[in-house]
Amino acid sequence: MTANRFTLDDRLPADYFTDTLRADVLQGLVAPPRTLPPKWFYDKRGSDLFEQITRLPEYYPTRAEHEILTRRAPEIAALTRASTLVELGSGSSRKTRLLLDALTAGGSLVRYAPLDVSASALEEAGEAIVRDYPGLDVTATVADFESDLALSDEPGPRLLAFLGSTIGNFDSAQRRAFYRTLSLALSSDDVLLLGADLVKDPDVLVRAYDDSQGVTAEFNKNVLAVLNRELGADFDPDTFDHVAVWNAEEERIEMRLRSRAAQTVKIRDLDLTAEFAPDEEMRTEISCKFRRESLTAELHDGGFTVRQWWTDPEERFALLLAVPN
Ligand code: SAH
Ligand code: TRP
Repeated sequence: MTANRFTLDDRLPADYFTDTLRADVLQGLVAPPRTLPPKWFYDKRGSDLFEQITRLPEYYPTRAEHEILTRRAPEIAALTRASTLVELGSGSSRKTRLLLDALTAGGSLVRYAPLDVSASALEEAGEAIVRDYPGLDVTATVADFESDLALSDEPGPRLLAFLGSTIGNFDSAQRRAFYRTLSLALSSDDVLLLGADLVKDPDVLVRAYDDSQGVTAEFNKNVLAVLNRELGADFDPDTFDHVAVWNAEEERIEMRLRSRAAQTVKIRDLDLTAEFAPDEEMRTEISCKFRRESLTAELHDGGFTVRQWWTDPEERFALLLAVPN
């Protein structure tokens, strides 16, 4: 039986998809410059589209991180001897299997604890993993890692993985708060495994977020479908263009939706109308890119010492191990 080795704990407040989304939309859309927080991309369709993004020829981060993990997972297992692998924003958990393989081969691992805001992603991934890893307990949690990072009673030492450069979707103030909370939640024998995309040729970066098949455009526009469904809004996704630009000063990719024409959008449940001027943009995501020195420094300020820093041979992506100071 695999059923009793897999649990899914939904820790999102009952009103999460109404009240939290409402507050975010009110704050983000009421006046220009408009922004929407990225976690609302990931309903079932959004999670499926993200999976397609990871397979696009232009989207190198997944492949680069996969390469590093393939090579370094045995070292990670030997260095950490982790009993629990906790993973934030685990999604499909595909790359995670490299860690699970190494940690079970090393004999230390008893539990995998993925946490994600997407219940559908956790269900799919968790059921497959209990099937494929006999003897492993999988305790999945549906939660928002920005507001509810409570790590509970997992057996230690814990390896806490945060892959896919999801850290880059936070701005520097959010990252600072996140490192602080995390370093306080971890014990002295726990280790952080962080995946971070590196600064590189802007053309390569822009293509990774504006692919030729238009999958990323679909993904970006999916947030409008979420607002239509959850808040009774009347966005017509076809009247917005997907835009990905490199912000050189901030060293980040910005994803935007640009209104093709002047239009008024009604958000029924908020009693709100939003006027868009022609070409007016709404920012939906940032993806910060990192350098070794500054990332090491900000982690240090946040309570972590970097112990290992690995990249793929082309130095596109970094994977690092850090311990609480
Ligand atoms: N780790 C995977 C997926 C990265 S995509 C990979 O490397 O391919 C980002 C993931 O984080 C998605 O699965 C999304 O549902 C999740 N996520 C985004 N914001 C979140 C939040 N605030 N709280 C919890 N999970 C979040
Ligand atoms: N963490 C991923 C990244 O920044 C998320 C992502 C990839 C993404 N492609 C996207 C988010 C397109 C929004 C739109 O690389």
